Amino acid sequence: MIEKVLVTGSSGFVGSHTVKYLSKKNVSVYGLDQCDPPKALKKYLKSFLKADISDSRVKEFVKENNLRDVIHCAALCLVAESVLKPELYMQNNVMKSKVLFENLVEAGVTHLVFSSTAATYGEPSLIPITEEHPQKPINPYGISKLQCELNLMKLFTAHRLKYGIVRYFNVAGSDPEGEIGESHDPETHLIPNAILALFRGQDLQIFGQDYPTRDGTCERDYIHVNDLANAHEGLLAYLKEGANSDVFNLGLGQGYTNLEVVRMIEHVANQKVPFVFGTRRPGDPARLVASFAKAKAKFNWQPIRSDLKTLIQDAYVWFKKNHG
Ligand code: UFG
Repeated sequence: MIEKVLVTGSSGFVGSHTVKYLSKKNVSVYGLDQCDPPKALKKYLKSFLKADISDSRVKEFVKENNLRDVIHCAALCLVAESVLKPELYMQNNVMKSKVLFENLVEAGVTHLVFSSTAATYGEPSLIPITEEHPQKPINPYGISKLQCELNLMKLFTAHRLKYGIVRYFNVAGSDPEGEIGESHDPETHLIPNAILALFRGQDLQIFGQDYPTRDGTCERDYIHVNDLANAHEGLLAYLKEGANSDVFNLGLGQGYTNLEVVRMIEHVANQKVPFVFGTRRPGDPARLVASFAKAKAKFNWQPIRSDLKTLIQDAYVWFKKNHG
């Protein structure tokens, strides 16, 4: 039973949807972020600390509120940016998370769910990707998250605390009630960029058309942000019931190429997406498709809103309301 939880990165895309989801399940949610929460999110937060994750005030905040459970979502998460600024990713994701983990342990936290990524696998040798697949990241973002996984395992195992690592595939979609949604500045992800291209009448650039996939464009496995929120809850509850620390992939188990995503957006919007083909983007693996069989078997998780049409409809409604 989850009574209260700290969510780091609570103002971000995954964090904010997790806050709202848990709050609606009557969990008291405490937020931590260096940015203010979106206006619509404030009512779902029991309390909020505006601070960097490595700030020593986090320890006091956790102690004062007697928090034992944490979902750690805060991170930089752009593959292309990480290729340009690898040190930023090591500093921000690895070093700061390490300080956070140490502070949380000292403050008495007992269970932690950590947002990791399919980018830790690199270029897969077998599809669908299971949790046992070797981790050989091909970009600094994936390297930074892998290092965080190892730091977390080391520290929590030494203190006999419980962790759950969730490796997200491509997160997209928006709150089905339209209160909150995806918002990055600058926007770099495929689905938002394709929807914005359609509204603005400016070409989307599709990076690469010579990948070894069915149409030459990269293939990704898209997972609805609310299905992730649901997985965080399910995994934390599972750990609190006494399960061992473990690692889980979260995806739909089905991949779509970049062109197929564009075609689905056109179908949902009933409008053409203007696009051109560009060169490959550094750091992009050709195909990433998850096996989520382990999450299903262990804590009975299953994606509900992640079929591509529903996911794009939710994203489209949000972007139309805010940018259309
Ligand atoms: N793409 C374009 N044009 C764009 C934006 C993206 O063609 O304007 C392409 C990318 O090159 C890639 C695909 O669309 O082939 C998906 O790109 P995203 O930027 O939407 O997502 P990524 O696959 O780079 O990254 C996401 C998450 C990472 C995670 C990664 C692997 O942001 O956290 O998936 O699972 F690591």
